[in-house]
Amino acid sequence: MSRYTEKIGRLLPAEKIVGFLKKRTFTDDSGIQLVPLFLDENGSDGELEEEIKSFAKWFSDGEVTKYLLPGTPLLLNTDTQKLETVSVPVWLKNISKRKTAAHWKIMHPQYGFIGHASLNAIDIKDMSCERAITIGEKKYWGEGIGKIVGLMLMKAARESGLKKMTSSPYAENTRSLFNVEAQLGESVGEGVDEEGNKYFLFSKDL
Ligand SMILES: CC(C)(COP(=O)(O)OP(=O)(O)OC[C@H]1O[C@@H](n2cnc3c(N)ncnc32)[C@H](O)[C@@H]1OP(=O)(O)O)[C@@H](O)C(=O)NCCC(=O)NCCS
Repeated sequence: MSRYTEKIGRLLPAEKIVGFLKKRTFTDDSGIQLVPLFLDENGSDGELEEEIKSFAKWFSDGEVTKYLLPGTPLLLNTDTQKLETVSVPVWLKNISKRKTAAHWKIMHPQYGFIGHASLNAIDIKDMSCERAITIGEKKYWGEGIGKIVGLMLMKAARESGLKKMTSSPYAENTRSLFNVEAQLGESVGEGVDEEGNKYFLFSKDL
């Protein structure tokens, strides 16, 4: 049991876990920080001008998006039940209000705001979450930052009382595969998305 769940003395509803995570800044010994992307836990989109510019740059770069879900930034259209590409401001506003995810900016001590990390699909039934990391500034890929951020997300999940972490990187995303395998262990399955891209499923008890 983590310190947080011990203090509360019972399993927390998803909203409390997400509320706890959303408020926290995590700092690694390297100086890399995960800083909450949104200003408060009630969904305020705040002044996100700089962030919108960065996300727009990253999401218009095919080298970055080829490893993400096709069409990112995506939102579920509740009428058609299909994922649809939306603008960055609309996407940010929507994800800021989600009750089952926490989002952080990846802040590097020298390079500044270089990417986005999140714990998504937080599910109280099995206390699971899905991790996601995007280092949008591709010149910093392969420097070990993804590895550090992955470990920071695991620490964040454990501290909040979550018990399981999943990830599903595309088979051709070598860096992500190495990173996820080193941290979540061997793949537990695989699949193919609607566009025919193969992905692997990973799941680890925390
Ligand atoms: C995937 C991503 C988060 C990885 O972060 P990173 O900082 O580039 O990766 P790291 O330098 O920490 O390396 C991760 C692993 O890949 C290995 N690696 C690094 N560069 C590599 C390369 N050119 N070829 C193969 N493996 C490589 C590292 O040795 C490391 O393995 P280890 O964890 O077993 O030591 C980052 O590249 C990224 O954001 N890419 C674009 C978006 C994306 O793909 N997100 C993930 C979607 S699932």
